[in-house]
Amino acid sequence: MELNTIERDDIGAAAENLVVPPAATRKVFVKTYGCQMNVYDSQRMTDALAADGYAATDAIGEADLVLLNTCHIREKAAEKVYSELGRIRELKAERAKAGREMLVGVAGCVAQAEGAEIIRRSPAVDLVIGPQTYHRLPGVLARARSGEKIVETDYAVEDKFEHLPQPKRAELIRRGVTAFLTVQEGCDKFCTFCVVPYTRGSEVSRPVAQIVAEAERLADAGVREVTLLGQNVNAWHGRGEDGEEWGLGRLLFRLAEIPGLARLRYTTSHPRDMDDELIAAHRDLPTLMPYLHLPVQSGSDRILKAMNRRHMAKDYLTLIDRIRAARNDIALSGDFIVGFPGETEADFEATMQLVEDVNYASAFSFKYSPRPGTPGAEMGDHVPEAVKDERLQRLHALLLKQQQHFGASLVGRTIDTLIEKPGRQASQKVGRSPWLQPVIVDEKAGEIGDIIQVRITKTGYNSLFAELA
Ligand code: SAH
Ligand code: SF4
Ligand code: F3S
Repeated sequence: MELNTIERDDIGAAAENLVVPPAATRKVFVKTYGCQMNVYDSQRMTDALAADGYAATDAIGEADLVLLNTCHIREKAAEKVYSELGRIRELKAERAKAGREMLVGVAGCVAQAEGAEIIRRSPAVDLVIGPQTYHRLPGVLARARSGEKIVETDYAVEDKFEHLPQPKRAELIRRGVTAFLTVQEGCDKFCTFCVVPYTRGSEVSRPVAQIVAEAERLADAGVREVTLLGQNVNAWHGRGEDGEEWGLGRLLFRLAEIPGLARLRYTTSHPRDMDDELIAAHRDLPTLMPYLHLPVQSGSDRILKAMNRRHMAKDYLTLIDRIRAARNDIALSGDFIVGFPGETEADFEATMQLVEDVNYASAFSFKYSPRPGTPGAEMGDHVPEAVKDERLQRLHALLLKQQQHFGASLVGRTIDTLIEKPGRQASQKVGRSPWLQPVIVDEKAGEIGDIIQVRITKTGYNSLFAELA
């Protein structure tokens, strides 16, 4: 695309003469960054916009509204948004030349963290909306269409989930046989490296009745596997149908009763919130998949303390033992940060040792990224970039070896697979293993939504190949 020469004021002036498309022919392009909660939010925003006359499009060039749902977790994630906004600015100018309006909105965690600063840095942006106010999107858009620049980043007092429209059944069917369902938002833990408590606010749990109703709607639309989401999903709690206070374990037992729902998962969990009932759910609920993402971040007690994780490495290992005792085929996953301020070679070695001890089926490792406003960013003794790089490489190599080892251990075994979608090749379909790996099977192996038994024949980089058992 050619660089445009239209300056900010030209866009503003042109905007007054632009054709505003009538409702029902408007199109929205949504781009999602960051975690699964943003994926869920993007769907809910799309639903709210559908009720407001915006059809979703995959072609940014034909969009009347471009919405970026952003992530602030590491510097790279946040900066991606600004480079994307640079490209969008050119598109917007081209659309303006052609006489059509294109509104640009920034939602998600960068919106919440940076607010009006986004419009100062990227004047093409018309509206900035934080995660707690998505239900206000239609009203905000009406104002934006009349030329107002809007920053909406309050923590709304009303329950946004009560006010967000539900998608049509046909839309749920279109989205497939697996779905996300946010049950908890926000975080009160304040790990010293993390922006989430600031971008998502304090912990809020959705009520049981709301969650059950949404899960039932999903099941009715053919969804077989639901992943419950929360920044701290195992901190979820609520008043149950029996009047008692429920934790996530009880909620899982309740959701397992819904006809049609064959598989349940939840993510992301904090080690301090893994209570007995949740561990019991892993023991007693065949519907609960034997896979657990339980980030620990570091294996060094000193660093864990500086991170404000509020447990020691030994506590995590004991917890893992208890979980494995409840469900011996559980596969573990985690997150790691290398190069937190003050991390020595010995601290890093302790992380490597913890990884050896746990033996993960998969895991994510990141270089520490100082985030504005977090205590970590203010700490002294930052680790040089080259050292972070070198540690990340070593950790990554170890985790990759464990992941490949886990995949290889499944070869020859017969496992359940949920058939999810057509494969990249017409002769194949793609399923999902209980441990979240994609499973490539023959096209004739089953219908989408079926759970079938397959025998694993070999492993790919990230996936498994299987034949009908
Ligand atoms: N609530 C989850 C994590 C949510 S953030 C938990 O408590 O574990 C997802 C992951 O991003 C974190 O687990 C952490 O590994 C990583 N992360 C968060 N902030 C980071 C930072 N400043 N630099 C590098 N990685 C970070
Ligand atoms: Fe961030 Fe810690 Fe909260 Fe997880 S528990 S979201 S890492 S502050
Ligand atoms: Fe990113 Fe916000 Fe999720 S910062 S990881 S999108 S909660």
